Amino acid sequence: MSDTIVLAIESSCDETAVAIAKNDTEILANVVATQIDVHKDFGGVVPEVASRIHVENISMVIEQALKQADLKVSDVDAIAVTQGPGLIGSLHVGVQAAKTLAWAFAKPLIPVHHIAGHIYANAIVTSLQFPLMALVVSGGHTELVYMRDEWRFEILGTTQDDAIGEAGDKVGRVLKLPYPGGVYVDRLAKEGKNIYQLAKPKAQNELDFSFSGLKSSVLQFIDRCARKQEEYDPASLACSYQECALQELLGPTRIALKRYQPKMMVLAGGVAANSRLRELVENDLKKEFTNIAFHVPPLSCCTDNAAMIAVAGSVAYRHGVRGDFTLTADPGMELCGV
Ligand code: KG4
Ligand code: ZN
Repeated sequence: MSDTIVLAIESSCDETAVAIAKNDTEILANVVATQIDVHKDFGGVVPEVASRIHVENISMVIEQALKQADLKVSDVDAIAVTQGPGLIGSLHVGVQAAKTLAWAFAKPLIPVHHIAGHIYANAIVTSLQFPLMALVVSGGHTELVYMRDEWRFEILGTTQDDAIGEAGDKVGRVLKLPYPGGVYVDRLAKEGKNIYQLAKPKAQNELDFSFSGLKSSVLQFIDRCARKQEEYDPASLACSYQECALQELLGPTRIALKRYQPKMMVLAGGVAANSRLRELVENDLKKEFTNIAFHVPPLSCCTDNAAMIAVAGSVAYRHGVRGDFTLTADPGMELCGV
């Protein structure tokens, strides 16, 4: 059987990324041009600026990926692209670039859901076993996804308000940490203790999540200290917040694992890089659920990249997923499979 080579483009937020995968999971090229340095001056992603920088970078990033893989577009079997969810202007740049390549070189076009990409990032380093449970935690998503089989997705639970990454970035901002705050809150928390009482989040459904109450509780805590001119320990506040947020994450996860008994559970998304979350999965969950194989992705696979879209795109290609030239960016795209 001949090799299948998929070139993938990811531009859903503030990373312009292109990767090339061979036979699903062998990554021949993986290029990410990040815009963090530009957006950090604003304390968050400025959508208009993000799409403008994507336009400036996209051709160069495609060229670099082809060079890294030592391939030409004509050697590629299909072009995959993140169709959504994400920022509309950012997504448009990737989708238009992918359509252009697919049209000019007569290649099939494969639309990919960003979350499917995050989940399949794990396949780069381990073989996925189904049924599989994925805890997807990123700047825009907090979801429990159950996969009965390859390329079948069922969302069991989601956040009722903020995504966990978004809440962590906001807490980072009020603690005056650099953007994006999640990783800095993670580092600072190691120096503190879980000593502050914060509001316990309460989602309405047992498999759903909620983070906005907890986030507001941190903001109110800081305001109250400022008003009363009381000192507080930022490291302990970071630690207290993080412990609360992670317990909120693991509650519904435990219920879902008991109920669905998957063969494997994977973490996915930028917040999967959180050291305390990784520790809780590796130490606690592994001991509680001895029949389930737990997989924590390497740090390089957690935050946005196109290798994950190339892997998911390759699986989608095998399952017959195709886009035509009417394909447009879909910022609210639903996760669905076969
Ligand atoms: O998956 P990702 O790159 O983009 C989205 O799809 O949203 O995730 C980015 C999110 C940001 O909120 C960032 O602060 C968070 O992942 N993040 C972390 C850590 N590293 C990245 N959050 C907590 N701890 C970390 N170590
Ligand atoms: Zn992402």
